Amino acid sequence: MKTIIEPFKIKSVEPIRMTTREEREVILREASFNVFKVAGRDVIIDLLTDSGTGAMSSEQWAAMMRADESYAGADSFFRFRKSVRDIMGYEQALPTHQGRASERILFKLIGEPGKVIPNNAHFDTTRANVEDSGSEAIDLPIEEAKNSSSNHPFKGNMNVPALEALIERVGADRIPLVMVTVTNNSGGGQPVSLENLRQVRAVCDKHNLPMFLDACRFAENAWFIHQREPGQEGRSVREIVREMFDMCDGATISAKKDGLVNIGGVLLIRDEELFQRASTSLILTEGFVTYGGLAGRDLDAMAQGFQEVVEHDYLSYRIRSTEYLGTRLLDAGIQIVEPAGGHAIFIDAGKFCPHIEPEHFPGQAVACGLFRYGGIRASEIGSVMFGGEGRPRPNMELVRLAIPRRTYTQSHIDYVIEATVELFQDRDKLKGLRIVEEPPSLRHFQARFEEI
Ligand code: F0G
Repeated sequence: MKTIIEPFKIKSVEPIRMTTREEREVILREASFNVFKVAGRDVIIDLLTDSGTGAMSSEQWAAMMRADESYAGADSFFRFRKSVRDIMGYEQALPTHQGRASERILFKLIGEPGKVIPNNAHFDTTRANVEDSGSEAIDLPIEEAKNSSSNHPFKGNMNVPALEALIERVGADRIPLVMVTVTNNSGGGQPVSLENLRQVRAVCDKHNLPMFLDACRFAENAWFIHQREPGQEGRSVREIVREMFDMCDGATISAKKDGLVNIGGVLLIRDEELFQRASTSLILTEGFVTYGGLAGRDLDAMAQGFQEVVEHDYLSYRIRSTEYLGTRLLDAGIQIVEPAGGHAIFIDAGKFCPHIEPEHFPGQAVACGLFRYGGIRASEIGSVMFGGEGRPRPNMELVRLAIPRRTYTQSHIDYVIEATVELFQDRDKLKGLRIVEEPPSLRHFQARFEEI
């Protein structure tokens, strides 16, 4: 097989400031060993997130110039709605400034103390919005999701028997909706199969429950279905995407991922009465229903992004380039969450440096090492993010290398591989860390560390 090249040419460039190992040592100490405190200009390859960090196409920039900034009924809104109708098949759509705004509106309307929201795995803002409404957020991943070396093709699937058991235990009247996150970010960027979605739908139908998607990475999920699910290879991603959305009663979307934009979100709701209540809530905090806290130009960029993200050439490059990184790390003996995810590679830091106990944050040690060795910024997803007073230890100590869309070339990724492998060869030198200062919640953003 030939190299799958980036299916684009570069028209506009942003310089990367090169730093030396000595400079990075000083930067890391000044940032108290927390890469969230490092300035973007001090980073060589930024893999902190794939959210809002991608490059837009020339057609998206052209669409932004064409945009209409009318307060109500802007042409940009109608182009946005037309694109959503075309790709997702929903007649009505509310624009929001990003995914968590859609989540806040939805859960404020349907959540309250005593209610329970099941999901294959809640993303942290989704969980926070569910809990803020007074409801309980419950994750129901399949067993394979807990094992980094299991190669299940749809490791993002929801555990359907566990869903049925939950409904049995708490009663359907306490469950306002069932949510499925595609792809499952917290679980390693792993996809959910159509078959699993159909099974969840059947359970929802049996108990008369609405089913919603957290559809941030809907196109990447559909590509995995096209590639891996028996009988799906002959269908286009557009068809598969449509089937995923047709099955559901609504969706929250962060367009900062598969909308290929730097800011934007969508809230989809089929039920007319709930849609009207959401519209009122949107006006209260986000903006009028035809702009939802965005500029007209952001709506046009989204309208165009949703069309580009379902193209097969784009998706084949996107998923292949993430897999390339994963395969090369595995070849070097570095355990990642297998198989490679869509938007990110998750390094198993517990296995990378087994000499560092979870209480001394192996993931944070690897994240600091990547910055020292290569100026690479990645995020810890382990005991720093999920731990703290009275909270259970997470299953795995991970470091996420999230790949911004259409931003880095294969040589950038080769550089990431070289630096990571060099760090792995020196892994015995990695030191654990201790927290010297932490805020009461969401400590991974703000905490200060020192090396032991
Ligand atoms: N749902 C999922 C599955 C996500 O990954 C994110 C964001 C959101 C919802 C919230 O969307 O940021 O637009 O408000 N994930 C980013 C990340 C931040 O780095 O994984 P948002």
